[in-house]
Amino acid sequence: MSSESTTAFKPGLEGVPVAESAISFIDGKRARLEYRGIAVEVLAEESCFEETAWLLLKGKLPTQKELADFDHELRHHRRLKYKLLDLIKCLPETGHPMGALQAAVAAMGMFYPARDVANPKTQWESAIRLISKMPTIVAAFHRLRHGDEAIPPRDDLDHAANFYYMLFEREPSPSVRKVMDACLILHAEHTMNASTFSSRVTASTLAEPYAVVSSAIGTLMGPLHGGANEEVLDMLSEIGSVENVRPWLEKAVATKRKIMGFGHRVYKVKDPRATVLQKLAEYVFSETGTPLSYRIAVELERAAADVLGPKGIYPNVDFYSGIVYHALGIPKDLFTPIFAISRVAGWLAHWLEQLKNNRIYRPEQIYVGERDVPYIPIEKRT
Ligand code: ACO
Repeated sequence: MSSESTTAFKPGLEGVPVAESAISFIDGKRARLEYRGIAVEVLAEESCFEETAWLLLKGKLPTQKELADFDHELRHHRRLKYKLLDLIKCLPETGHPMGALQAAVAAMGMFYPARDVANPKTQWESAIRLISKMPTIVAAFHRLRHGDEAIPPRDDLDHAANFYYMLFEREPSPSVRKVMDACLILHAEHTMNASTFSSRVTASTLAEPYAVVSSAIGTLMGPLHGGANEEVLDMLSEIGSVENVRPWLEKAVATKRKIMGFGHRVYKVKDPRATVLQKLAEYVFSETGTPLSYRIAVELERAAADVLGPKGIYPNVDFYSGIVYHALGIPKDLFTPIFAISRVAGWLAHWLEQLKNNRIYRPEQIYVGERDVPYIPIEKRT
């Protein structure tokens, strides 16, 4: 096969469309994000995660009956098989929860084989299992690594409240539930980001949905993608005080250090999700008191607007999400797994869309290595 490419190489595939999709839309200059045409701010205010997941999967808002049936199915499938719990128990407690989530989701594919990926029944059952069980996996790993028993899910609680309950063994207050639910809505889908592309590449091989989602989880883990929300908190505690923001930023810019939670390939203004998350943070802080990390973050955003704003670098979704989760008492290394239990709705919507009109992804490379190199026997090599 020829190594000559007909198109120019675009590092990071910048500006290269890799799919036609009707799931979400971004206008990066106008801070606009829509799921199936509906503004994400409206969904965060009016909808719930279950309804948003249906919207993403089915392409339209559910009727009352459709939502009630979907909600019922999700609640019904939350429990984990004992063997899956045993597997989670065997994982090192010092390991990152994203690793545990990826391993458990991959293992789900062995408990629930789903090879006939074109079958609508298989598709729907797999989607339900993944959305309903991923929160249970994350909460179980978190409890078990601290030597506590995993808390079984409660089917009288909605998706957000049940996840919180399985983590802390207490129900969230109505305001905490609303914030948790809104966070799940805001992270559920975001066009062709790295993990979604990863899910579509795996889907295009007709791999099972558990393989599709586990590959996306691995991609989400990196600090340039979903893992940035953890690093934001580290960065804010390194800055340490509001007074230190400007000197710290000057040094960071001078040494070309990346500011975590800032910048985006598509948004050249403040990410609309960051705007909603900031409001949610302030809502939480009206009950809990404003932490120092938030005051540092606001000053950093202000200072960075002068230095990075002209380059189109503004806060992204990860900048305020970690601060919100921290205020809810959620440990730092669960921030990215929470992203995953939300984003699974988007990954699955892309899986289904990919299967509708599938062609295996097989891009090209530009070969820059040597050719026709003679083989030198080992004894003659220097
Ligand atoms: N801080 C400082 N400078 C930045 C930042 C940042 N956070 N982001 C981009 N830049 C600068 C780069 O240094 C580069 O400058 P140069 O042209 O002078 O060399 C320019 O902006 C372009 O940056 P790239 O990294 O090439 O932009 P790209 O589109 O490839 O990367 C990314 C986007 C990965 C999000 C980047 O902005 C980044 O690393 N941000 C920090 C990590 C982060 O917050 N990730 C979460 C993203 S949201 C999500 O995935 C859920």
